[in-house]
Amino acid sequence: MQTLAIIGSQWGDEGKGKITDLLGAKCDVVVRYQGGNNAGHTIVVDKKKIVLHVIPSGILHPHTTSIIAHGVVFDPDAFKAELLDAKNAGINLTFNNLKVSENCSVITSYHKLLDQLRETKGPEKIGTTGKGIGPCYEDKVARKAIKLKDLFDKDTLMSRLKKNLIEKEALFKHLYNSSFPTVEEEATRLFELGKMVKPFVCDTFSYLSNCISNHKKILYEGAQGVLLDIDYGSYPFVTSSNTTIGGIHTGAGLMGKSIDEVVGITKAYTTRVGEGPFPTELHDDLGKKIQKIGNEFGSTTGRARRCGWLDLPLLKYSIKASNLTSLALTKVDVLRRLTDLKICHAYRFRGETIDCAWPGIDMNEVEPIYTDMAPFHDTFKNGSLSKELGAYIKLIEDTLKIPISIVAYGPERSEIIFTGARKFFI
Ligand code: GDP
Ligand code: IMO
Ligand code: MG
Repeated sequence: MQTLAIIGSQWGDEGKGKITDLLGAKCDVVVRYQGGNNAGHTIVVDKKKIVLHVIPSGILHPHTTSIIAHGVVFDPDAFKAELLDAKNAGINLTFNNLKVSENCSVITSYHKLLDQLRETKGPEKIGTTGKGIGPCYEDKVARKAIKLKDLFDKDTLMSRLKKNLIEKEALFKHLYNSSFPTVEEEATRLFELGKMVKPFVCDTFSYLSNCISNHKKILYEGAQGVLLDIDYGSYPFVTSSNTTIGGIHTGAGLMGKSIDEVVGITKAYTTRVGEGPFPTELHDDLGKKIQKIGNEFGSTTGRARRCGWLDLPLLKYSIKASNLTSLALTKVDVLRRLTDLKICHAYRFRGETIDCAWPGIDMNEVEPIYTDMAPFHDTFKNGSLSKELGAYIKLIEDTLKIPISIVAYGPERSEIIFTGARKFFI
C-alpha cells in the first residue's frame, strides 16, 4: 500500500488526529489538503495531549514529513501560535519535516472579521468556528484570494489586499457598522508574518509528485467530515471545502495514482458542533451523559458538541460519497455500561422507509428507526471484544457492507485494536 486517506465520515471530531498519528508511524509523508485551522485534531501519547489545527497529525514521528498543500486556507497568525505550541511540546519543526504550499490561500483579518460579523449580525447563523474559513474560500473562488507567495513582496501584497478589500469595505461600513484594519495595517501585519512562514514554503505539488514517483508512503489527512462537505454535506450547514475524497485531487494532487485505502473515521455514536439538522440527536439526559463521558467539547472552540445515536443511513451515504474502503470505529469505550443503547438503521421519510441519506434530502424531515442493542461492559484489557460489542460491530458491518478495520477504545495512541485483516502501513 502506498497511499491512504483518513476521512471523517460524520460531522467531524471522529478521532481523525488519533488514527492519523497511529497510522502515520509507518508513513513517509502526511498531507493536509483542505480546510484550515477550523480543524482540531487531538493526539494523546503517555497522557500528554496535543491539539493540531492546520499542522498535520504526523509530526510526532521524527522521520515523517508533513505537508500543508495548496487546498488548505492558511492563517499565518494561527500557524505561528501552533508552531509555538509544538515547540513547547518538544517538537521541533523545520523545513525538513514541515512544508507549506506557496499557493495556499491566506486567511486575512478581513475574513475572520466577516465570518464573525455574519455569525453575530447576519440573517442565518451556521455556527462556524469564526476562523474566517468561508470568506477565504469565497475569495479563492472569486479569484481575489491572497496566496501565501504574495506575502513576500510588499507591493504585490498591497495591490492584492486592495482588490480583496474593496467590496468588503462597503459591508463593514454600511451593513455591519464595524471598524476594520486599513490596507496598510493589514499589509504590514501580513508582511511580517510572511517572513516567519517563508522558511517553510515551497512548491508542495512537485515535492509530492517526486514522493509518489519514489514510492514513498503517503497519508492524506482529511479535516471535518463528509456531512460538512460543501457539495455532499447538509447544506447550508457545512464548511466551505470538499471534505470528501475529491478534496485530495484538487487540494494536493495524486499524480496518476488512486488512493489505495480510504478509512472512514467513525465515532461509535454521532456528534455535531454548530447549527443544522441531526436526525439521531438526543435532547435528553442521556445525550448529556454521553457528552460528559465522551468529553464532547470542541477542540478548536470549546463549544459543547451535540450528541446522538449512531446513524447508519448517514454512514451509508458517506461511504458512497467518499469511496470509503473500511471504517475505524472510535470511542466505543464511551458507550460501555450504558443501559439503553440504540443504532439507527433506517429513516422514515415521506411515508417510506429508506436506508440511505442522499444529497438534497431534508434531514429535518426524517424520522430515525432504531434497533435496540444489548449493553456491553468491555474493559478492553485482553484485546478481545465481548459478544455484545461484537454484535454492535456486526450490525454496522452487515448493514453498511463495509469492514470495520480498527476499533479505538480510548484517547491514547495505544488504545486500539486492529479487528480486520488489514494492517495498513504497520
Ligand atoms: P478529530 O477532529 O477527528 O481529530 O477529533 P477530535 O480530536 O476533535 O475529537 C476526538 C476526541 O476524542 C479527542 O479528544 C480524542 O483525544 C478523543 N478520542 C479519540 N479516540 C478516542 C477513543 O477511542 N475513546 C475516547 N474515549 N476518546 C477518544
Ligand atoms: P475537525 O477536523 C467539527 C463545523 C462548524 C460549523 C461548520 C462551518 O476537527 O473534525 P467553518 O468554521 O468551517 O466555516 O464552520 O463546520 N466545523 C467542524 N465541526 N469538527 C471540525 O473539524 C469542524 N470544522 C468546522 O462547527 O458547524
Ligand atoms: Mg476535531
